[in-house]
Amino acid sequence: MCEVSIQGVESTRIKRLRERFAAQDQEHVFQFWDDLDAASREQLLEQAEAIDLPGLLRGFEAALRAQDGSRRLEPVRVEALPESGGNSIQWQTALERGEALLADGRVAVMVVAGGQGTRLACDGPKGAYPLGPITGRTLFEQQAQKIRRLRRRCGQPVPWYVMTSNATDAATRDCFARAGHFGLPPEDIFFLCQGMVPSLDLAGKLILAAPDRIFENPNGHGGSLLALQDSGALDDMARRGIDTIFYYQVDNPLTRIGSPTFLGFHAQAAAQVSCKVLRKRDPAEHVGVVARVDGRVGVVEYTEIGDADRNARDASGELVYWAGNMAVHVFSSDFVRHVAARAESVLPYHVSLKKIPRLDERGRKRIPDAPNAYKLERFVFDALAAAERVCVVEARRSEEYAPLKNATGADSPATARRELSAQYRAWLEAAGVEPPPPACIIEIDQSVLDGPEDVRALGIRRVEDAAEIIRTAPGDEA
Ligand code: UTP
Repeated sequence: MCEVSIQGVESTRIKRLRERFAAQDQEHVFQFWDDLDAASREQLLEQAEAIDLPGLLRGFEAALRAQDGSRRLEPVRVEALPESGGNSIQWQTALERGEALLADGRVAVMVVAGGQGTRLACDGPKGAYPLGPITGRTLFEQQAQKIRRLRRRCGQPVPWYVMTSNATDAATRDCFARAGHFGLPPEDIFFLCQGMVPSLDLAGKLILAAPDRIFENPNGHGGSLLALQDSGALDDMARRGIDTIFYYQVDNPLTRIGSPTFLGFHAQAAAQVSCKVLRKRDPAEHVGVVARVDGRVGVVEYTEIGDADRNARDASGELVYWAGNMAVHVFSSDFVRHVAARAESVLPYHVSLKKIPRLDERGRKRIPDAPNAYKLERFVFDALAAAERVCVVEARRSEEYAPLKNATGADSPATARRELSAQYRAWLEAAGVEPPPPACIIEIDQSVLDGPEDVRALGIRRVEDAAEIIRTAPGDEA
């Protein structure tokens, strides 16, 4: 009796769903339904029910149309570093304002760590990558060290919101748990999992990864702004009196997490969102550019900027569009709510062609040898255009930017470790401590020393006096 009614409920569910999918020409996702057992049927039902098909297809069409649009660019106003013409008094004022914000307990930090790390080709989440040049500390541990230092400096919990995805969630939580949350109180760490979005083939059809599974990928770093709302993280922040979110990516070990100066500029400008930028090394560098795009502040991806704009120089020979996007932002939490409520228009999908394995009509897995599908993603920087007040602040590359993207070559573990070690060397020099010979690599425990001022404050005169905190080892060349 009970069995019959369960089957009845299931058949109504599948009937409705089939109609819904058939109306959008996507009924093929149920082609293996008759061969599925009960658990597989339930899995497919749940997944299909969660897909907003009309919204997805509208977003897909819009993304395809947007690809051909040409956009009018103008340079954006940037708070330049003192050495590139900025006002050093303003930088000092920003620092003090940011410190006050932190001391008032109004700041949270958020890392986006839901990416698949395809280019790095590591096992597990990128945040668990052992990047410490000597200790092999993971990226997460390095970040936790900085947060511990920040908490001590400002005397506030500075909660850490860690965004994962289906691809990284379990392994990330496991990594934190096994490491005792890196010495941070677990109640000040909030995991939130971003949404997934199906890919579509060249004919706009959903793709079956298995008879009971539609192929989906994490919905892009822009999904973070939705996840903050949907997971209850924004409510958690409100309960804690937090209204300012320092946002960064998991894969830049030089990020100055919770930088008071950046927070201060954001607050002084009463900005809804702020961006950190660095001077592009050359026109071809693979970073997006922060600019006015059709009159609104935005980011043009390096793949989307036209050659004339990419190479344009001013009278002094400087690139007109030099402001490379570091993907480090400050958001006001009210603005995140505003964006999350309007995601379809504010955070449109972008498409990129990929090779995605799929089942053929007979249920056999086919590995394509050419791109066969579009991956859809939302980009966090699209939110800039929805803001009335945006603040853009310049950063020094050597102090703040060493992305970890590829397994070898540029932006790889080797380059990121080198930059990290070079930064530690520069801190020692700035604090008047003799660094080890140039061939040596250096690694510093950033929960204790997070800059030259900490080295000075602790009265460290020689590297050997702080052997647990400042490690040195022979480098490759030694
Ligand atoms: P990237 O796209 O540069 O890195 O994302 P990735 O996704 O880890 O690696 P590839 O592209 O597959 O090689 C930049 C940042 O955005 C996060 C990543 O974790 C990284 O911190 N991200 C990206 C997400 O959190 N979710 C996404 O859906 C995409």
